[in-house]
Amino acid sequence: MEPNTSKNLPPGPPKLPIIGNLLQVKSLTPYRILRDLARQYGPIMHLRLGQLPTVVISTPRLAQEIMNASVSSIADRPVTTTSQIFYYKAQDIGFSLYGPYWVQMRKICASELLTAERVRSYGYLQAEELENMHKSLESLAGTVIDFRQIMTQTVNNVICRATLGDNYKDQKELIELLNEMMNGLGDMDVVSYFPSLQFLNGISGKKGKWLKTHKQLDIILDDILEEHKNRKGQSRDHEALLDVLLRVKEAGDLDVPITNVNIKAVALDMLIAGMGTPTSVIEWAMSELMRNPEIMKKLQAEVRAVVKGKTVTDTEIQSMHYLKLVIKETLRLYSPPLLAPRVSKKDCNIDGYDIPANTNILINVWACQTDPDSWENPDSFIPERFENSTLNYMGSDFQFIPFGAGRRICPGIPFGLNMVEHVVVNFLYHFDWKLPNGLKPQELDMTEVYGANKLPKNPLQIVPISKLLEN
Ligand code: HEM
Repeated sequence: MEPNTSKNLPPGPPKLPIIGNLLQVKSLTPYRILRDLARQYGPIMHLRLGQLPTVVISTPRLAQEIMNASVSSIADRPVTTTSQIFYYKAQDIGFSLYGPYWVQMRKICASELLTAERVRSYGYLQAEELENMHKSLESLAGTVIDFRQIMTQTVNNVICRATLGDNYKDQKELIELLNEMMNGLGDMDVVSYFPSLQFLNGISGKKGKWLKTHKQLDIILDDILEEHKNRKGQSRDHEALLDVLLRVKEAGDLDVPITNVNIKAVALDMLIAGMGTPTSVIEWAMSELMRNPEIMKKLQAEVRAVVKGKTVTDTEIQSMHYLKLVIKETLRLYSPPLLAPRVSKKDCNIDGYDIPANTNILINVWACQTDPDSWENPDSFIPERFENSTLNYMGSDFQFIPFGAGRRICPGIPFGLNMVEHVVVNFLYHFDWKLPNGLKPQELDMTEVYGANKLPKNPLQIVPISKLLEN
C-alpha cells in the first residue's frame, strides 16, 4: 500500500508493493509505454519506479509549465551512481545541481565554449575527417557497409579532436573507454531505482567496472591536461575546448574558481554529449531517407545543385532549404525521447496537483513531439510539415523541444546541428545509396532501442554507389 497522504498527487496506474510501476515501464522503448499510459491516466502522471517517486509530463502545455524559467525549483538533476562515478561527483554541467557553479559553467558555454564562432573554428578538422570518410567509402563502394560504424568513427574523431586537441596518440583506446562510459550512463538497471540497495551494484560487479573505466579515463585526461598546460603559443583560432577551459581557469576572475577536476568533468560532458546524440540523429536521418526514396531524391537534388567544389562549405549548407526541413523532422521523431530527469527541490503545484519535494520529473519529449493535438499524422515522417512553419527548436515551442527547454536547454545546439548537417550532406553529395539484397524501402527495419541514446536496434546496412563510378 502507498503511504496515506493528504497531498493531491497526479493520477497514475496502480502501484505494486516494493517495485511500484517498474515492471510496467521496463522496456526497450519506455517512452512509448509512458505515452500509452498518459493516454489512459492523463498528461501529468504519478508513478513509483522502485523507490523513486516520479512524475511524467506528456503534453506541450505541461512541459511549458514545468520548464518555465519561473519554476526555478525544478532545474536540478537527480543524483545517480553513474553520474557520481563518471563525472567526479557530478561536477560536469549535465548532471551538476542547479547552483552558482552550474550557472557560471553555462555562461562559459554561451560566451566561449560552444559559440557558433568556436564551432566554425573546427571546420578545418571536420573537413579533414569527412575527407577520410569519403576515401574509405570510395574503397568500399558497391559493398554493404555498416553505416553506424563508419559514421560514428568520423563524428567521434571530430569531437575528440575539437575537445582535446589534435595530439592525443591513442584516440582509439580513448573512444573505447568513452563508449564504455556511455553504456554505463545508459544502464538504468534495477538497482538504479532502489537507492537504498546500491550495495548490489558492488555485488554484481558493475560498480567495479565503472570505477575502472573512470580511473582509466582520468589518467588519460590528466596526461592530456599536463601536455596542454606545457604547450605555449597555440593559435587561438584552433583552441581545443580543453584549452579554452584552461585559459578561463588561469585568467582567475571567476565567481566560482574552477579546478582541473571541473575541467575534466566538463570535457567528458562535451565528449559524451557530442558523440552520442549527433550520431543517433544522423543514423535515423539516413534510415528515413532510405525508407523514403522520394525524400532522398529531393534532398540529394538540392545538395548537388548547391555544392560547387570538392568540399561542402557552411555557406552552401545554410542555403539548403529542404535539408533544414529533413533535419527538423528527424529531430521531431528521433531526438532524445525522455529528457534527463529533473528533480523538484521543494514542494510545488503543477496543474492543480501537488508535486512533493524530491520527486523525479520525466518529460516525455517524444510524446510532446507526436502529440495529436499539435501535429497531423504525428507518427509519419513528413519534412514538408515544417514548410512555411515558424516552429523552431530553441525551446519556445513546446510541441517541438528536441534540445530541451528552459534553464537546462542543450548548450551544444550550434555544434550538434553543424555536425549533423555536414555529415548527412557529405553522404548524399558523394554517393548514391542502395539497400542490400533487394530489400524494399518499406521493409527497412526501424525497430528502436533506448539506452544512453535512441538507436535503430539493428545498425543500418547500406551500399554506397560512388559518383565517380557512375560517370
Ligand atoms: C543533434 C545533437 C544534439 C541533441 C539533439 C542534443 C539534445 C540535448 C537534450 C535534449 C538535452 C537535455 C536538455 C534538457 O534537459 O532540457 C541536452 C543537454 C546537454 N547537451 Fe546536448 N544535444 C546535442 C548535441 C550536443 C553537443 C554537440 C554538445 C556539446 C559538445 C551538447 C552538450 C550538452 C550538455 C552539456 C547538456 C547538459 C545541459 C545542462 O544540463 O545544463 N549537446 N542536449
